[in-house]
Amino acid sequence: MPKDPHGHLIAGAVSAPRNVPPGIPRPEYVGRRAPRPFTGSDVYSPDAVERIRLAGRIAADAISLVGENVRAGVTTDELDEIGHRFLVENGAYPSTLGYRGYPKSLCSSVNEVVCHGIPDDTVLEDGDIVNIDITAFVDGMHGDSNRTFLAGTPTDDVRLLVERTEESLRRGIKAVAPGRQVNVIGRAIESYAKRFGYGVVRDFTGHGVGEAFHSGLIIPHYDSAPQYDTVMEVGMVFTIEPMLTLGTHEWDMWPDDWTVTTKDKSVTAQFEHTLVVTERGADILTLPSSKVTA
Ligand code: MF3
Ligand code: CO
Ligand code: CO
Repeated sequence: MPKDPHGHLIAGAVSAPRNVPPGIPRPEYVGRRAPRPFTGSDVYSPDAVERIRLAGRIAADAISLVGENVRAGVTTDELDEIGHRFLVENGAYPSTLGYRGYPKSLCSSVNEVVCHGIPDDTVLEDGDIVNIDITAFVDGMHGDSNRTFLAGTPTDDVRLLVERTEESLRRGIKAVAPGRQVNVIGRAIESYAKRFGYGVVRDFTGHGVGEAFHSGLIIPHYDSAPQYDTVMEVGMVFTIEPMLTLGTHEWDMWPDDWTVTTKDKSVTAQFEHTLVVTERGADILTLPSSKVTA
């Protein structure tokens, strides 16, 4: 029961939470209502950055594997199973599982779902798009990434939205440099998105990540100057994760209190990387271990 008579998504049935072997360390928030307030820094030592990179690589490899399984006929719950198994086989805890009550091991956001879609018995159809957002927790660090995949052959306007959303992330990353305010990132993303008339989601943002899943540092994807004036410094770690839409930037929340859709039900895409600020710009910490090209 994935869609209503207008072709809009409706909530499906959510399966039981998946098991994580007891030997895999949990983040502190699992089994609690909310994370403890984070009092640490967003700036990490080189050794700590390498630990975040390991978590980020596992997350990226899990996303690639899930993406290979995106096709018409698969359910988002089946995708959750694939991502979950890869994470635990690689010694990682799926950071979303039990985060503020979130019930699943990844987020699967289909078509008009902006972010935080819960995997369920929704069957993907030819022409759908689905964002797979995975965060891995290993050796005390979180690495957070997402990509949007096509099921079959979407319309040209949807395919272009997906391609340009990835390009907007590249442009946001290129704006990163020590000494600049974080608001330059959203300026680069928004100015590119506006060329095409896309909506730029404002109320869900990038964030500091590492020891905490969400540190409290906020990275907007729109031009927020003079607000969000935190100055980037070498060793600072955060995500950039723009959400662009074919319509409005306004959103609705489903009764599950997680699933965010565009208010006008227009299609929306997202891409996310975790990165560290370097002397020369940014180093992406959520690259897959190997890109095999034919
Ligand atoms: N990974 C998401 C992000 O990019 C957060 C998901 S939290 C969840 O920040 F609880 F919805 F899973
Ligand atoms: Co994130
Ligand atoms: Co994410």
